[in-house]
Amino acid sequence: MMGNKFSDLHNIVVIGTGNVGKALLKQLAGLVRCPARPGHLALAVVAIANENGIAFSEYGFTSRQMEGIVLDDRIERLKGFSQFQGCGIVSQVRRRIGTDSLTFVDVTAADLTDLHLEALRRGHAVVTANKKPVTASMDVWRELMSYGPRRYRFECTCGAALPVIRILQDCIATGDRILGISAMVSGSLGQILSYEDESYHFGRRVSLACEAGYTEPDPRDDLSGKDVARKAVILARLAGATVELSDIKPESLFPPEWADCGVDEFMERLLDSDDNVVPGEFMTELRCRMVEAIAPYRYLVTLDCERNHWLEVGLKQAIGSQAPFADLHGPRNLFVIRTERNDTHPIVIGGAGAGPVVTAGGVLADILEIVH
Ligand SMILES: NC(=O)c1ccc[n+]([C@@H]2O[C@H](COP(=O)([O-])OP(=O)(O)OC[C@H]3O[C@@H](n4cnc5c(N)ncnc54)[C@H](OP(=O)(O)O)[C@@H]3O)[C@@H](O)[C@H]2O)c1
Repeated sequence: MMGNKFSDLHNIVVIGTGNVGKALLKQLAGLVRCPARPGHLALAVVAIANENGIAFSEYGFTSRQMEGIVLDDRIERLKGFSQFQGCGIVSQVRRRIGTDSLTFVDVTAADLTDLHLEALRRGHAVVTANKKPVTASMDVWRELMSYGPRRYRFECTCGAALPVIRILQDCIATGDRILGISAMVSGSLGQILSYEDESYHFGRRVSLACEAGYTEPDPRDDLSGKDVARKAVILARLAGATVELSDIKPESLFPPEWADCGVDEFMERLLDSDDNVVPGEFMTELRCRMVEAIAPYRYLVTLDCERNHWLEVGLKQAIGSQAPFADLHGPRNLFVIRTERNDTHPIVIGGAGAGPVVTAGGVLADILEIVH
């Protein structure tokens, strides 16, 4: 296959132009090849795709073009816009760009598992913030991991840019063994559970978090614990567990019969449950648990590798081994990792576990690891 004009360039394909995609393009705009600056990192963004289509630039988009995408959100304005072909994007890009040296960057929330596998099988590299491929079946996980961190990087799928995955991988690569992990991995649930409110007006807490932009547009996506369950699968698999997403039953913070109504009706029911305490009802039970607790509740992933990788996702009081989570406030994430070498003094990693700018920075760091 022919190289493109700048065959020394590292060619990047960005898939997803949402919150993280835009922040990433902005950061990449400051790094792309700049002939006027000798020694500058030779990166070229040769294709940008979203759900609507894909735009190509054989020699790499200019900083100005990338900033334009960030500002006006219309990639169809770019030269070469054509239909996005899902998994077929790999051969599409190879044909258009004419190089084998490609890194596909997935910053969507779509199921692009086939695209990841296709790119890796054809010898390319993949960087992802998207949890779906790494939480697909164990067979897919094993194949993805078989390409190693030089070709497949997924740091931002758990704890955003916090260096959690690389620390777990380093521990295992150097012969250490993971004994257990406790983690608070949901910024939105962290925010909701740490509002100062002694009466535990849960609906009001959720409403405040929604207004402040901490939750998904439908807060049930957070309150169901499903997103946390995906992160739990990633942590457990890294620690050596054979686990499927369907094996995990995250504790939901709303009753199952509220799963199908509209968002507005859901919020009304939640707020109503603050004022109308009905004995025996799900929300009343939840509130009683919280009011009577001797320590604050946190929504945690708990993995015990010494008990056959026993894995739990749900509310826990921050006492005993979970005491470090008591002081956690707001959307901050915290990981406490016990290994054979770090048993008495576990590894503790904390910081922002979400946010487009920090996540994009973590994705970019993964890209640079591959490029270097
Ligand atoms: N936001 C954070 O703080 C954060 C932190 C860690 C990890 N993540 C992960 O990063 C990913 C992106 O998050 P986000 O907040 O940027 O999401 P977002 O704003 O919803 O953006 C998603 C982007 O993906 C594109 N897309 C959706 N389906 C696609 C498909 N089939 N093919 C190609 N493109 C497709 C969308 O295209 P359109 O623009 O055409 O709709 C959109 O540009 C998610 O997996 C999320 O879990 C996010």
